[in-house]
Amino acid sequence: ATGGTVAIRGALLDCIADPFYEPEAQAVRYIPDGLLVVQDGHIAALGSYEEVSPTLGDIPISDYTGKLITPGFIDTHIHYPQTGMMAAYGEQLLEWLNRYTFPTEGKFADPAYARSVAELFLDELLRNGTTTALVFAAVFPASVDAFFEAAEARHLRMISGKVMMDRNAPDFLSDTAQSSYKESKALIEKWHNRGRLLYAVTPRFAATSSEAQLKLAAQLLDEFPDVYLHTHLSENVSEVAWIQEMFPQYQGYLDVYDQTGLVRERSLFAHGVQLTDAEFQRLSEAKAAISFCPTSNLFLGSGLFRIEQAKNPTHPVKVGLGTDVGAGTSFSMLQTTNEAYKVAQLRGQKLSAFKALFLATLGGARALCLEDKLGSFDPGKEADFVVLDPQATPLLALRNQSGIPGTLEAMADLLFSLVIMGGDRAVTATYVLGKVAYSSESP
Ligand code: GUN
Ligand code: ZN
Repeated sequence: ATGGTVAIRGALLDCIADPFYEPEAQAVRYIPDGLLVVQDGHIAALGSYEEVSPTLGDIPISDYTGKLITPGFIDTHIHYPQTGMMAAYGEQLLEWLNRYTFPTEGKFADPAYARSVAELFLDELLRNGTTTALVFAAVFPASVDAFFEAAEARHLRMISGKVMMDRNAPDFLSDTAQSSYKESKALIEKWHNRGRLLYAVTPRFAATSSEAQLKLAAQLLDEFPDVYLHTHLSENVSEVAWIQEMFPQYQGYLDVYDQTGLVRERSLFAHGVQLTDAEFQRLSEAKAAISFCPTSNLFLGSGLFRIEQAKNPTHPVKVGLGTDVGAGTSFSMLQTTNEAYKVAQLRGQKLSAFKALFLATLGGARALCLEDKLGSFDPGKEADFVVLDPQATPLLALRNQSGIPGTLEAMADLLFSLVIMGGDRAVTATYVLGKVAYSSESP
């Protein structure tokens, strides 16, 4: 039976282990002339064209010879209501929030507006090759409905949640501990595990939540053990000092979340730029994850994330990459790896192209506890992938004039050119459950 079965030909590249810990030749799978077989939205088989094509019968082949196919990118931290406020000038975190972010998020009280931005946001993710994201909505429950409705219509695996925020924010954006608990609970019951959608309990950060609200957030995690916790942590020096003043009885920023019950395996903390070694160790013990958001950290002047500390072999912490739009300056995960490379350079570290690929794919899937479904081409996983053009622009065509290489070493070089020069223009097509969800080529 060929119903629902398709095959895609191209250079296949994915991570099957973590190149921060395993030799790259073992962590990376590269098939220069490969064939990916997709059945009912899931990967059924992969191998070389030579081996696999005789088994196909009359299954149609989409031919991307000369292009590079990787798993869809996973953005582990982004704010959909901030789509229209990227490039807000001149401030660091706390002033940026008050001056730009809160007024912008106020507009999401209007469900029609929320719906229109959610549509544009998801189209933009797909245009950049991102197929899964962990997404802040706004404080309004209808802003979550708008987002999940748009994601459901596109068959995307998306995680989102209502912002919980009961202090230090304008009245028009504030809930209460009780209302945030009730509204979040109703949204979990409505959306969590509906199709591919998943819910994240989303207190904005410790500065905008009372202790009572953080404890009720933890109560939701107890009641619904497979929902996520999504928040911000230790981004900016003034923020960390403010949290310490606000919570003097705690040992530090992470301890506020820890003692209120929020540091768990399905917890994802954005930034962690200012974390101490002891805090990294605690995140490792708890199996919690960090989203590294280099374009945002540079844009807001927050600092340089210590990825080598997060990935230290004694106390490994799960790390994904996040764009953190609108503090982030690009929807592109390739552009985000570009800036991650530069952050590593400034710290005297090297972020190889395959490590960058890992962070944008399997690493993100692991950070989100979704590695059984996403992040690589292992048969059985969901068939979300991206087709990249190594010659997408005149400069890339010159840089990569010999096309798809035969060796892993040469592929590292080609991939690095896409990390540094690729951006959104390198994305030829984005597939969701084995179907084209975005194509740069005119139909
Ligand atoms: N900390 C609390 N809220 C935010 C936000 O919206 N963006 C970023 N980058 N950091 C935050
Ligand atoms: Zn953020």
